[in-house]
Amino acid sequence: MAPWHPRRIEFGGDYNPEQWPRDVWAEDRALMSQAGVTLATVGVFSWAHLEPEPGRYELDWLGDVLDGLHAQGIGADLATATASPPPWLTRLHPEALPIDHEGRTRWPGARQAYCPSSTAWRTRAVALVEQLAGRFGSHPAVRLWHLGNEYGCHTSRCYCDTCAAGFRRWLLRRYGGLDGINSAWATAFWSQRYSDVEEILPPRLTPDGAWANPTQQLDYRRFASDTLLEELLLEKEVLRRLSPDVPITTNFMVMTRFNQLDYWRWAEEVDVVSTDYYPEFADPLTHVEAALSADLTRGLADGGSWLLMETSPSAVNWQPRNPAKKPGALRRDALQQIARGADGFNVFQVRASLAGAEKFHSGLIPHAGTDTRLWREVLDLGSLLERLGEVAGSRVESEVAMVWGYDAWWACELDSHPSVDVRYPDRPRALHRALWDRGITVDLVRPGAALDGYKVVVVPTLYLADDAAAAAVRDFVAGGGHAVVTYFSGIVDEHDHVRPGGYPGAFRELLGIRTEEFAPLLEGETVVLDDGSTADVWTEDLRLEGAEAVRTYADGPVPGAPAVTRHAFGDGTAWYIATRTSPEGTSSVLDRVVAEAGVGAAAVTTPGVEVVRRRGEQGSWLFVLNHTGREAAVPASGVDLVSGDDLDGEVRVGPGGVAVVREAGA
Ligand code: GAL
Repeated sequence: MAPWHPRRIEFGGDYNPEQWPRDVWAEDRALMSQAGVTLATVGVFSWAHLEPEPGRYELDWLGDVLDGLHAQGIGADLATATASPPPWLTRLHPEALPIDHEGRTRWPGARQAYCPSSTAWRTRAVALVEQLAGRFGSHPAVRLWHLGNEYGCHTSRCYCDTCAAGFRRWLLRRYGGLDGINSAWATAFWSQRYSDVEEILPPRLTPDGAWANPTQQLDYRRFASDTLLEELLLEKEVLRRLSPDVPITTNFMVMTRFNQLDYWRWAEEVDVVSTDYYPEFADPLTHVEAALSADLTRGLADGGSWLLMETSPSAVNWQPRNPAKKPGALRRDALQQIARGADGFNVFQVRASLAGAEKFHSGLIPHAGTDTRLWREVLDLGSLLERLGEVAGSRVESEVAMVWGYDAWWACELDSHPSVDVRYPDRPRALHRALWDRGITVDLVRPGAALDGYKVVVVPTLYLADDAAAAAVRDFVAGGGHAVVTYFSGIVDEHDHVRPGGYPGAFRELLGIRTEEFAPLLEGETVVLDDGSTADVWTEDLRLEGAEAVRTYADGPVPGAPAVTRHAFGDGTAWYIATRTSPEGTSSVLDRVVAEAGVGAAAVTTPGVEVVRRRGEQGSWLFVLNHTGREAAVPASGVDLVSGDDLDGEVRVGPGGVAVVREAGA
């Protein structure tokens, strides 16, 4: 398989020609060409058109689409078309329909209504992929294979009997036998001990107020992620056999509102990491969230090249209120992803649909046609991305890492915990945002990853930390690094068993502290710290065991107890933030940490003006994205590839504007 070598910034989107008569296709191609589109994702929801009846394949129309794209110099990200089965499939095989945890069937009529474990579904999907790969596996337009689509978006977990059997097999592989399962699941509790593996079920609806075994719930999340991954692996096997030269991808959903899959594990199986990211139009800080998503996607790609596979060119159709993007937002959104390592910016979709559930979702070609602001912005963006080709393949600079764990997220949000207000993404978002405001770029890394090369490592809400995750942070600090750990981290091991001896067991020695009991706050309750800042959600009765108190509580359940601590450990320093500090409180701690660690911003900036640097063999590029309503000035010398201006010491960027400076002397 030839490696993916980006030589340009890809631009394009999902292209669904089967929704249109053929005379529109020629216009589509001409317009895509005019806009500088380089990559079209084809066939994602085409199964019913490619196999209208069981075993009868109609592939010629897709061949015509691919030939047409190729003639226009546009590459294809060709879908395996298995994202949604045709109606005949579940009519023939009703057992392939998914069942929710209350035992209800999820019916066809929308999309993705299938059980991920279903043999019938898998057999039919593999047969389809064999047809497509056999016919188009060496087609000159095909540059990427796009497996499935947003795996787990609608059906992430099915609770049917087939899945139950698969879960048992998965458990036996993981634990070696019934004793291992009983021990990991702590089934001595509530008379849950299993005497035969056949007694084990998915965590289906339990009696009112009685929680399902937490490790059973956690393992079901792991099993569900692995089961969907098996689908991808089945398709991958076919493609490696029949189309070995074309790299594979699947569009992840790297967003803090999606946690159905363990993307660290998934990323190992694709040749190109790609993600979808959609803004939340009601959130004024949605662009900070977009930065976090991009930083995590870059982490999944191990710092290398990745693609933004989908976003909306303007409005979406699925939020309660769906405004159009404001002038300039499309360009800023695109450049933000490129700044943070994307080597491609693609949208859903090329031409806005006239019918169906997504008819009010924007496309590059809007309902109103090409005499529109949106189309003019699309043309501008296409030509800008072409000019930015030299950036492709360069890497994002960062001195700070943040540990991000999917099973830590799953475990953290299980029921029967000390406080419902401890939500996993809350602290990662808060700390990332505080660093974002300072122009400090953060790499997201998996728990247990080697941390050499970073100056600061942030460990927010890593409730579940296995020994390797704890050791990686400890070794980093012992070797001279600076770590910041936030509350409800290191509490349990990989089986969700409490680490005894005082909280937080996995990090107690590193942090030089010991907590006997948690003191979460009641709804709406706040506490004041000795610097006058406030905090909410969480406090704990923390004792110093070698650490110093940097902040203490002035009131609340544990007045006088440390709220923020600092501990010299080995050659480094370990900080603990024991409460949900306000943005100001978080910032003042991070200011000290980055100053002590000697971490610098990509450029001197002000909050709301995003700065990121990419560096490659050919030089370095400073991206400046002004998310504010005022003009911004950032120190920079070189050429602004957006305006073409030569810069001598400063780049001025208008409200909402962008600059990409090819830096002089870099
Ligand atoms: C994505 C999906 C696309 C389209 C889009 C609309 O989740 O992959 O097929 O539905 O959302 O925003």
